[in-house]
Amino acid sequence: MNIRRATIDDLFSMQNCNLSCLPENYQMKYYMYHILSWPQLLYVAEDDPGHVVGYVLSKMEEDSVNTDNPHGHITSLAVLRSQRKLGLAASLMNQAQRSMEDSFASNYVSLHVRKSNTAAIHLYRETLGFKVHDIEEKYYADDEDALDMRKILKHGVGKEKHIFKKGKPKAAEPEPEKKESNSKKKGKKEKEPAPKVEEEKKDKEVDGDKKKKKKKNKK
Ligand SMILES: CC(C)(COP(=O)(O)OP(=O)(O)OC[C@H]1O[C@@H](n2cnc3c(N)ncnc32)[C@H](O)[C@@H]1OP(=O)(O)O)[C@@H](O)C(=O)NCCC(=O)NCCS
Repeated sequence: MNIRRATIDDLFSMQNCNLSCLPENYQMKYYMYHILSWPQLLYVAEDDPGHVVGYVLSKMEEDSVNTDNPHGHITSLAVLRSQRKLGLAASLMNQAQRSMEDSFASNYVSLHVRKSNTAAIHLYRETLGFKVHDIEEKYYADDEDALDMRKILKHGVGKEKHIFKKGKPKAAEPEPEKKESNSKKKGKKEKEPAPKVEEEKKDKEVDGDKKKKKKKNKK
């Protein structure tokens, strides 16, 4: 098993892996956007014959680059069922984080995860040291809440005030508590790039972050 930087030739395999592992799917142009903008931040895990068995798709938050608080975001992560619990996801995440630090001096990395996704939450919180920053209600298309998780990287040490709302992360939360509705943040997300979704694919294929479509529809 090998972890390496992804190339354009890997994008269809990454998309296939995503389709077989997650309900949040993306059009090919969104993979292209990632690799053209942030080629250092896409990694694949491949087996001995060279088949892609896992990937991490990540990026820098565009508005944060060239500010004093650059930060990265994990757009998607998946490992094929047959290759799980071998440490591949942790390795993919560690590579992406390292590149965010080395290439972009990223202060922190963020991600969203379904509140019911115990495997991923274990990976992020226990294995990798992410903390819950917030809970985004009805973030996903099926109305499930998301945990907004963040991890401080080496350039962000001492800058917790800029990274976590109250200056420090919440303690470990086995059961995320409900928060009041955060319409302000919803407004913020609309700014993130959200390429259009073709009408007939709306239910399955989502460009950009999955919740934006939903929020737009809600308005
Ligand atoms: C979540 C996922 C990426 C983990 O991949 P993986 O390669 O099996 O993870 P790793 O082998 O690196 O395991 C990392 C840690 O998570 C733990 N873990 C993995 N699967 C687990 C599970 N089903 N339940 C509990 N813990 C689990 C491992 O035991 C390990 O913990 P440790 O460091 O304490 O030993 C994989 O299950 C997956 O692709 N799921 C579907 C897609 C998905 O949910 N992606 C994340 C979206 S936010």
